[in-house]
Amino acid sequence: MNDPARFVTEAIDRLRSEVPGKAIVAASGGIDSTVAAILAQRALGDRARAVFVDTGLLREKEVERVTEIFRQAELRFHVVSASERFFAALQEVTEPEEKRRRIGTAFIRLFESEAEGFGTDRLVQGTIAPDWIESGGALRDTIKTHHNVGGIPSDSKLRLVEPLRDLYKDEVRAVARNLNVPSPDRQPFPGPGLAVRVAGPVTPDRVRRARVANAVVEEEVERAVAEHRMSRPWQYFAVLLPGRTVGVLGDNRVHGEAVSVRVVDSVDAMTATAAALPREVAQRIAERITRSLHGEVVRVLYDITDKPPATIEWE
Ligand code: XMP
Repeated sequence: MNDPARFVTEAIDRLRSEVPGKAIVAASGGIDSTVAAILAQRALGDRARAVFVDTGLLREKEVERVTEIFRQAELRFHVVSASERFFAALQEVTEPEEKRRRIGTAFIRLFESEAEGFGTDRLVQGTIAPDWIESGGALRDTIKTHHNVGGIPSDSKLRLVEPLRDLYKDEVRAVARNLNVPSPDRQPFPGPGLAVRVAGPVTPDRVRRARVANAVVEEEVERAVAEHRMSRPWQYFAVLLPGRTVGVLGDNRVHGEAVSVRVVDSVDAMTATAAALPREVAQRIAERITRSLHGEVVRVLYDITDKPPATIEWE
């Protein structure tokens, strides 16, 4: 894609011919699905309805943040609160691909009922090229099933419409800027949410810990960027690790959990390099996480692995 304005015109034409009636749009508040939702609304007007799902696996204040982005983008949308359904689907699941499949299926079931209520079988998604390439779409092994690609059961009546499927992230950002999407450079957040940043069992308590740790990393990195102590990385987040580790709390030994901090630079998410944090920023992150999660998280590690061999997310 060379020309974002031309891409917008052509995508709108394609959407009009692919969707004769109505469509719902899976809108997570991320750049990809926000761009897809705006294109669908421009192409279809009232025949498009964006649906934002609160999975219970979102970051701190994400519902408020996404609501504000959609309001600024003048997008019509509605919010479905479904955390109980997602936690139920994830009970006893630890294997990463199984987590992704369960989440994908929960999303699809929910969108099926939303679509039926709206009188359509079309679901517009913001799938981009790395999503389906890494999900095994291009003659290679599945690296991981991106939930917006892998979780669609064969019995689903939904028909997918994917206006961005040939674009890479940097190209989507160029289109986002053309459409005046607020903060087009904000960091990506995976569709399965904090479930893939909680290694091992996904319980409300463990998700809460991952949420607190993620918020600390985001705040401290953003502060360091604003104060020109580092340039804005591609992604910066925390992962709650599996297993337990020993810490000291006053005079007592505690058996708590550990968090891994990951900061990476990338251009298109297909490869990435582990970025360095200024020493005082790393120290403050460790201090704040262990203080905010007193006795629950007693150790903070720093992930220094590039992609490949690691992926950006832990799972
Ligand atoms: P990985 O971990 O595969 O991530 O190196 C590459 C980029 O994709 C994001 N990611 C996802 N995005 N659905 C998404 O929409 C997903 O299931 C998903 N999994 C990973 C990840 O944050 C990184 O930017």
